[in-house]
Amino acid sequence: MQNIIIFDTTLRDGEQVPGCQLNTTEKIQIAKALEEIGVDVIEAGFPVSSPGDFNSVMEVSKAVSEPIICALTRGVKNDIDVAAESLKYAKRKRIHTGIGTSDFHIRYKFNSNREEILERAIAATKYAKSLVEDVEFYCEDAGRTDNAYLARVVEAVIKAGATVVNIPDTTGYCLPEQFGEKIAYLKNNVQNIDKAILAVHCHNDLGLATANTMAAIQNGALQVETTINGIGERAGNTAMEEIVMICKSHPYLGYSTRIKTPKIYALSRTVSNLMNMPIQHNKAIVGRNAFAHSSGIHQDGVLKNKDSYEIIDPKDVGIEENSILLTARSGRAALKHRLSILGINVEGERLDSIYENFLKLADKKREISDDDILMLAGVQHAKNPKIKLNYLKVTSGKEVVPEAEIGITMSGKEYEAKASGNGPVDAAIKALKQILKKKMVLQEFVIQSINRGSDDIGKVHMQLLYEDKIYYGFGANTDIVVASLEAYIDAINKFKS
Ligand code: KIV
Ligand code: ZN
Repeated sequence: MQNIIIFDTTLRDGEQVPGCQLNTTEKIQIAKALEEIGVDVIEAGFPVSSPGDFNSVMEVSKAVSEPIICALTRGVKNDIDVAAESLKYAKRKRIHTGIGTSDFHIRYKFNSNREEILERAIAATKYAKSLVEDVEFYCEDAGRTDNAYLARVVEAVIKAGATVVNIPDTTGYCLPEQFGEKIAYLKNNVQNIDKAILAVHCHNDLGLATANTMAAIQNGALQVETTINGIGERAGNTAMEEIVMICKSHPYLGYSTRIKTPKIYALSRTVSNLMNMPIQHNKAIVGRNAFAHSSGIHQDGVLKNKDSYEIIDPKDVGIEENSILLTARSGRAALKHRLSILGINVEGERLDSIYENFLKLADKKREISDDDILMLAGVQHAKNPKIKLNYLKVTSGKEVVPEAEIGITMSGKEYEAKASGNGPVDAAIKALKQILKKKMVLQEFVIQSINRGSDDIGKVHMQLLYEDKIYYGFGANTDIVVASLEAYIDAINKFKS
């Protein structure tokens, strides 16, 4: 079996997604889970981009010992210096530097030419190599880079000391056959190709990230760059769970990974929960419906023999049959057990507080789902908010002018206000604005339900513009107006001034 190296970029490319930002503690939690599941390399951030990212790379380096910790840079000296400094505590460290190599990037991004970019690629690699032993070079937009020029860059950076060369399909443009051919071309036309590991990093703009990554593996790529749940820029990156399970489900292909697959589901939920990023229900491997058989014919077939419609045993990815239904009669132990299956280990006061909210919700809903539980656990994350919603009363309906009355606590003082609007959410926000007197603009407002019933929890994501900066807020409640106002307040609580 050929081992495929799993390079996880959930904490870098995944974290670039608007609204998915994590604090350092959360990044450490995910990094430890990535270590436990067996990823080989963790790309922990882009240190020069912010002091927060720098600090996270440093703290992840301290917290994790087995995987290589990688820091991203542009092909710029200062970026590389900052990355090297952020990695100083890593037991095994790698700098990931690079430059755009397609003519689009060379002309429009750098206003340069191929020869100059080649020189810059060599210089960046040599400089990184003078600071760390393990240097990965990415040829950004390699998917749209001319193969002959790409081969020259790859050969030159390997000669300059790159240990890994990354071929990203940055725009998700390639077709699997084309991308496979590109990898084969490099294998056949770069003289020193066996002196480095060939890696790929695919984006999912055309829904082909996994197919392209597999085509690359089948043509000689040994490292794949992936994220949990496929999160990442725009339509996302290749999903780690998909590549791992394809290799496992097709053993005759001859590829294996070090990933402990029964830990996949819990990690997927942890990432979704911490990043407030829902998993689409039909997402392969980890979606709610991935193992749900609903049609009568399928159910009948599965009952006769699971293999008729199941190509993966759900237990192989950590999905246990949930024999314990959580209701208002369930105890703390049942809740704790379910939380631990979902990747959340809590004890003592935190468990008590989640349990208290669980009972309140169970009084409103007949049955509590995994997503409800994650939501309850997530709700506990709100730390010392500046503004707290005490109550919200709304009147709305047909032929009624929607009105809202709210009470909040801000900096220890209580405030109340009443306003009308073109709907209950609008009225509630207007009432809040009367108290705050701040100029902010609601730019995005997304409501999602989790399950199907009318007793469902609604999740609300909002994007606010305040003093030229964008802030994201999140709220969850069985009452969608409350969830909306809480999301609005959550965003305001993040304002810098
Ligand atoms: O998509 C891309 O090209 C990247 C590189 C920075 C590796 O994320
Ligand atoms: Zn990327």
